Amino acid sequence: MDARDGLLFEGVPLHTIAASVGTPCWITGANTFRQRAKTLKQAFEAHKLNMHLHFAMKSQDHQAVLTVLHHCGYGVDIVSGGEMIRALRAGIQPEGVVFSGVGKSDEELRLAIEKNIRQINVESAEELFRLNNIAATCGKIARVALRVNPDVDAKTHDKISTGRAGDKFGIEHNQAIQLYAQGASLKNIHLVGLAVHLGSQMLTAEPFRKGYSRLADMVREIRSMGHSVESIDCGGGLGICYKNEIAPSPDMLAGVIAETLGDLDVELSLEPGRWLSAPSGILLSRVIETKAGSPSFIILDAAMNDLTRPAMYDSWHGIVPVAPTALSTPTAPWHVVGPVCESSDIFARARFLPENLKRGDLVALLDTGAYGSVMSSTYNSRPLATQVLIDNGKWAVIRQRQTIEELIASETVPEWLHSHHA
Ligand code: LLP
Repeated sequence: MDARDGLLFEGVPLHTIAASVGTPCWITGANTFRQRAKTLKQAFEAHKLNMHLHFAMKSQDHQAVLTVLHHCGYGVDIVSGGEMIRALRAGIQPEGVVFSGVGKSDEELRLAIEKNIRQINVESAEELFRLNNIAATCGKIARVALRVNPDVDAKTHDKISTGRAGDKFGIEHNQAIQLYAQGASLKNIHLVGLAVHLGSQMLTAEPFRKGYSRLADMVREIRSMGHSVESIDCGGGLGICYKNEIAPSPDMLAGVIAETLGDLDVELSLEPGRWLSAPSGILLSRVIETKAGSPSFIILDAAMNDLTRPAMYDSWHGIVPVAPTALSTPTAPWHVVGPVCESSDIFARARFLPENLKRGDLVALLDTGAYGSVMSSTYNSRPLATQVLIDNGKWAVIRQRQTIEELIASETVPEWLHSHHA
């Protein structure tokens, strides 16, 4: 390795990737994924929990990533028919697929039943009865868990809280037990247990402990009514350190699960997304222009259409220059923005970066592997960016940069408009 290479990711100099495929460019590290997948698994093993792990692929859905995790023994948590098809195509077995989501169409439910996936997490009485009918028309029995809204404040950003009363997710806590009893008598439903998801980017143990304790109480109550509960899906939500947060460890989560659910004699599963994917990915971008003033701006070639999180949740991401010399120069506060015509297209305010950053320099936006590329849009007719995978020093393009031609290919202009002149 050469010191002049500047910033590396999994041993590969980022400037070589940028020179070859251009920017903006999403980069995923396969080994970071593997390492984290292993760490998480071992945390549960250490607490003697046989945890089935289903990666929340909404956080990063590329088939190459799913393949990596499949080899680590992970299944997937899906939220749409599209994700199901992607996952199965990547080689995930139907027994490793759990279907969550507040609004599943008839077609999506039918596909899930026909493919014999492991479990469908149902979110309302209405959905449960609809699913029973669909399963009957398919001549099958669907394996179902009821997703409960435990009414717990996850103490995270309002827009990523999912388990408070009033959030759209899950079955109201006080309705769930009665529905379980009803569901147990449905012919084409096999009720296997309960599911919960409290929120995302959770940083403390308390909401987990509260949510899982409530679930444990429910399991006892349901059992006392004579129904069987075989499994509990603990959801996702484990937070990471983006800036200076004290991030919870997998060991903490495993400890809380062991303490609250460990003696219930149920099969346990987890749906982690961000904890696995966020630190496994970066967004590489080049400075298009700088603009001196108060404040001074760095205008990148990546924008809010690529990485939406700062505009949507005011999220903080590390931004580091790629060039080796940049690290030793004096810093100045910069507003780091993208070229999209919106004031919310801003990645960072008054961020201290080298004062001599200039047009053409590369920067990396860190911890953008979760809810990054998957949330991109083509706003301002900006094509979807290239995706690259690094693995043991090798790297490959895993998604070509979309072309403008591809972006507009499915549009049509009705013939009559051409002859209509006001
Ligand atoms: N399971 C269910 C049912 C979920 O709704 C979610 C995330 C997960 C698992 C995974 O949670 P995680 O381990 O990643 O925290 N776009 C937002 C995050 C939305 C999360 C929605 N649900 C963001 O960029 O912060």
